[in-house]
Amino acid sequence: MLAALGAALSVYAADIDMEGLPETGLDTSAWVTGENPPIDDMVDANDFQFAAKNKLTGKRYAYYRTGALDEITYERNMHDWEKIRMNGFAFQDVSQLYRHTRILGHEFDSPFFIAPAAEAGYTDPAEAERNLVRAAGDANVLYVPSISSTLSIEEIAAARRDGQIMFHQEYVWEDKTRLQDELTRMEQQGFRAIFLTVDNTGVEGVRSRYDRFRTSSGNDHAQGLTIQAMNELRQMTKLPIVPKGVKTAHDVKLCADLGFPAVYISNHGGRQVDMGVTAVEILLDLHRDYPEVFDQIEIYADGGVRHASHMLTLISLGVTAVGVGRPFYFANIYGQEGVSKLIDIFNKELDTTMRLMGEDDIRSFRGNSSFINTKKVELDYFGAPLTGSLDHTVYNVPAPLD
Ligand SMILES: Cc1cc2nc3c(=O)[nH]c(=O)nc-3n(C[C@H](O)[C@H](O)[C@H](O)COP(=O)(O)O)c2cc1C
Ligand SMILES: *[C@@H]1O[C@H](CO)[C@@H](O)[C@H](O)[C@H]1NC(C)=O
Repeated sequence: MLAALGAALSVYAADIDMEGLPETGLDTSAWVTGENPPIDDMVDANDFQFAAKNKLTGKRYAYYRTGALDEITYERNMHDWEKIRMNGFAFQDVSQLYRHTRILGHEFDSPFFIAPAAEAGYTDPAEAERNLVRAAGDANVLYVPSISSTLSIEEIAAARRDGQIMFHQEYVWEDKTRLQDELTRMEQQGFRAIFLTVDNTGVEGVRSRYDRFRTSSGNDHAQGLTIQAMNELRQMTKLPIVPKGVKTAHDVKLCADLGFPAVYISNHGGRQVDMGVTAVEILLDLHRDYPEVFDQIEIYADGGVRHASHMLTLISLGVTAVGVGRPFYFANIYGQEGVSKLIDIFNKELDTTMRLMGEDDIRSFRGNSSFINTKKVELDYFGAPLTGSLDHTVYNVPAPLD
C-alpha cells in the first residue's frame, strides 16, 4: 500500500536535471513523467528539450541528445554563444521588418531551416516526419529530411503543402546502387537539392551516452570519399549537391573551388569528432584564411543554435542560413503543433532581436561585423585578436549572392 502510494507519487517529475542549460524559471513541478507537459509551458527552444526529456524513455532521449565521447564539442556548440557580444544600434527606423531568405535561389520566410535528423518517429510514431513537413510548409521554412527518417522519401514528399520547397539529406553509402536509387527517387519526388553528409566517412562517432542502450551499430558509409569519388558522385544526379558536415576552413575553400553551389558547416551537433571546432570558430578561420569564399558560394551552418541571437551571430559572420537540429525533433513530441510553435518562437525572437539591434533587414546582417564582437572567441581560439589589434574586428562584407 505504501509502496503503491510511493510509485504513484514518483510519477511527478518535480526534478528534471537541466544539464547546465540556461535557467529561465521553467516550473516542472506539476509535470507527469512519461507525458507531454502542457504546451503552454513552452516559451523557448530549451523548454522543448526538457519536455522531451520528461516525456521520452531514457533510451529515446539519449538517442537524440547524445554527442560523441565526452561531449566536449556538444557543450562548446551550446556555450560558445556566451563569448559573443552583440551590438544594438539606437536611432534607427525598424518599421519595415524583412527576414525573407533566399536559399539556393528559393525564397523562404525565415533565415533558419530544420536540419536533417534521423527517426522523427521516435517522438511521434504515428506522424513522424509529416509534422515537420507540414509545420515547415505552413510557415514557408525549409525542412531538409534525413535519409535515415522513419518515413520513406515518397511518404515525406506526399505530406508537402502546395508549392512547398524541400531539399533532402543523403549519406554516401558504400552501396552505390542504393545511393543511385535514392538520389533518383529524391529527384523524382521533387526535392530541389541534396545535402550530402560528408562528415562520417566509414563510421559515425562513438556516442557513449547512447551506446549504453544499444548492442550494435551499423556501418554502411563509404570509406573512400576522396575528391575523385565526390566528383563521380556528382554525376549521379542533376540536383545541386551541398556538402554537409564540412568542419575546417580548408575544406570550405576546397568545396568552393570544386564548384559546389553551397557548403554546410557543421560538426553534426557534436556527434562525430569530440573536441571539434565550432561553427563560429570555423567561420573566423575562413575570414582569416579564405575571405574570398563568402563571395563565391552560399554558406550554411549549425550546431547549438537555440535562439535568434545565435542565428544572427552566424549570419553576421557571413552565413546565408542557419540549421537547427535537436530542438525541432524534441518539439515533435507535440506533433505538428509543437514544431509550428517552435518556428513561431524563433520568428518572434528574430523580429524582436533585429528590431532591438536597430536593423530590420536580415540582408544587412549578412557578413556585417558591426553587429557582433567576437574578440573573446578570437582570443581563446587564435590566442590573439583576428586582426592583430584590439580594434573592432571588421570582416570583408560579402557581395550579395542571388
Ligand atoms: C538525433 C539526431 C540525428 C541526426 N541525424 C542526422 C542525419 O541523419 N543526417 C545528417 O546529415 N545529420 C544528422 N544529424 C545532425 C543534424 O543535421 C545537425 O547537424 C545537428 O543536429 C545540429 O546541431 P543541434 O542539434 O545542436 O542543432 C542528426 C542530429 C541528431 C541530434
Ligand atoms: C552593417 O550594419 C550597419 C548598422 O546597421 C549598417 O549601417 C550598414 O549599412 C550595414 N552594412 C551592410 C553592407 O549592410
